[in-house]
Amino acid sequence: MQSDKSFDKESPLNVILLAVVLCVVCSLVVSTAAVGLRSLQDANVLLDKRANILSVAGFEDVASGDVNEVFGKRFTVELIDMTTGLPAASEAMEAMKKAGKEYSGEEETIAKYDQIWASKSKKPSISDPTDDATLIKYREKFSHVYVLKSEDGSSVEKYVFPVRGYGLWSMMKGYLAVEPDLQEIAGLTFYEHGETPGLGGEIKSERFKSQWPGKQIYGEDGEVAVRVIKAAPKDDYSIDALSGATITSTGVSNMMKYWMGPEGFGPYIEQKKDGETETAQTTMTKSGDQDNG
Ligand SMILES: Cc1cc2nc3c(=O)[nH]c(=O)nc-3n(C[C@H](O)[C@H](O)[C@H](O)COP(=O)(O)O)c2cc1C
Repeated sequence: MQSDKSFDKESPLNVILLAVVLCVVCSLVVSTAAVGLRSLQDANVLLDKRANILSVAGFEDVASGDVNEVFGKRFTVELIDMTTGLPAASEAMEAMKKAGKEYSGEEETIAKYDQIWASKSKKPSISDPTDDATLIKYREKFSHVYVLKSEDGSSVEKYVFPVRGYGLWSMMKGYLAVEPDLQEIAGLTFYEHGETPGLGGEIKSERFKSQWPGKQIYGEDGEVAVRVIKAAPKDDYSIDALSGATITSTGVSNMMKYWMGPEGFGPYIEQKKDGETETAQTTMTKSGDQDNG
């Protein structure tokens, strides 16, 4: 009875105390839920990413329950230094850790390298400033490249590159799939953008996407030649711009020029092409040796 009397609901002090207790309890519940669900969120983000990569590489009907398995079986994930085009997984993970990036879960894998986070950081170990027309401002030092292997794992069937750049309103993020010759486009898909539905948003339409397969990236002079323009001529390089969305279309064009050029995946592509030439030369020499023998 005495305790009933001692708790005065009207007292300002008790009202403040109750509010404080409520705040603490609520924030504890929210933060516990956020921390507890973080690994699930990360897993879903990764799943969505892989589903998009599979789709641009030509795997259209993979059920979400099978995405990780199909991806794991057929894709090799590379983590490269963009400036040299060479593998740099340990440098990339080390740079991320030094920059204070936390990873959820115990396992630290290449897949956890957070490219978009790296691109937003102004720290020189993980990003470089850029003043190119994609308006991305910073470009990550290290990037993932997704390599689709044949079923027996013996040959490359496609390369998938993450690409991004500004349209009219937003950063458009997507994946470009390229044939093993690193010259012919296999497909382009966008998984995130904020362009206007019906105008710039048509970058996700079949009409726009279906124009990409078969187009050639580089012209005869070795420069990026694929482009998005109004009233595109019927040639190997031109994609018809979206009507009423010239700014978005130009953004996609600039994106191709940047990411396939020397500041983007150019050095990686050069490395791979040089490797192919060397392998071809070695094979020729070997078969020459056999002939002689
Ligand atoms: C509400 C509104 C939304 C628009 N959204 C886009 C867009 O997403 N992408 C784009 O390039 N242009 C968009 N535009 C049009 C641009 O302002 C600009 O007029 C257009 O890019 C020019 O293209 P055109 O030369 O094909 O007409 C929008 C215009 C308005 C009024």
